Amino acid sequence: MSERSDTRGRIVDHLGGDYLRQALENDVRTGLTASPKWLPPKWFYDAAGSELFSRITRLAEYYPTRRELEILRRRAVDVAGLTRADTLVELGSGSSEKSVLLLDALANTGTLRAYTPVDVDAVTLEAAAQRLAVRYPGLDVRPVRADFERHLALLPRTGRRLVAFLGGTIGNFPPAAREVFLKELRAVSRPGDTLLLGTDLVKDRDRLVRAYDDPQGVTAAFNRNVLRVLNRELDAGFDPEAFEHVAVYDEDNEWIEMRLRATRPMTVPIRALGLTVTFAEGEQMRTEISAKFRRDGVIDELSRAGFAVCRWYTDGFGDFALTLAAVPEVTG
Ligand code: SAH
Ligand code: AVI
Repeated sequence: MSERSDTRGRIVDHLGGDYLRQALENDVRTGLTASPKWLPPKWFYDAAGSELFSRITRLAEYYPTRRELEILRRRAVDVAGLTRADTLVELGSGSSEKSVLLLDALANTGTLRAYTPVDVDAVTLEAAAQRLAVRYPGLDVRPVRADFERHLALLPRTGRRLVAFLGGTIGNFPPAAREVFLKELRAVSRPGDTLLLGTDLVKDRDRLVRAYDDPQGVTAAFNRNVLRVLNRELDAGFDPEAFEHVAVYDEDNEWIEMRLRATRPMTVPIRALGLTVTFAEGEQMRTEISAKFRRDGVIDELSRAGFAVCRWYTDGFGDFALTLAAVPEVTG
């Protein structure tokens, strides 16, 4: 783990050395030797994957980004007034497009001093941090390249923090990992800190599936990108075009599942691991879940992790929610 620099706008890197490589190797060995096979979604996001995600957010079918932006436009001032945060920490910040609404509101409240975007993709993180450092000349912009499943304790803990976890990215954790994540976040938070959590809501199956299976094939390209990452990083021999994009809604679990389906039998070398993986024709490998939430469930999960829910904001269509929660003052 190395810190390249902690000067304004320069990345603090917790994924340096061979950390990222080790993590990728472990995940690929575990996921591709399991039955059924699976890969964790964090490996979608190299520079190309982040760009494909940005294209997804502009698709007519992918409503979550527009809905969350609508909520932020209406509610950011309220959030700033309630939190009076001086430090915005944003997990999975990507291009930080939504962050400006929170930053503007906090700046107008007069409390804002620092912004820490946190992401695994260094290219997108660096570009966003530079853009925001120019836009907010007095702001202490401290980008951190880190894995929010591993490195919450290493993020800056000074000041009065608002942690934003937007986009519905928490839905990409399986429920058990979600519980661990929220408890860890609570454990590294202090009284007065707050959490703004974006969650996509349960809705009509067809709209959900369309949002994850667009006719232009952008989501399919995003899904296949994980195979390109494995080819490049682990000298693997995947033919991405031989895998079909699949998006299904699991009604019981209330989550979208993205999979890659082998269109023919394949034997794929993962040379860096000395591993050979076989796929039967039609075999499906899970690459992402995207859980959809209900109000009671969100409040219950946050409460069980030790957060006190203060506000539940939704867009005009009831498609998406932002929940504001606080770390209670210690009593007794
Ligand atoms: N918050 C943005 C981007 C969401 S896309 C929005 O709402 O539009 C999810 C982002 O989380 C990507 O930028 C991806 O690189 C990042 N990400 C995914 N898994 C991560 C992990 N384990 N640790 C840190 N960042 C992660
Ligand atoms: C980042 N995350 C919240 C997106 C989602 O909707 O689960 C990723 C995504 N996958 C397919 N389309 C978008």
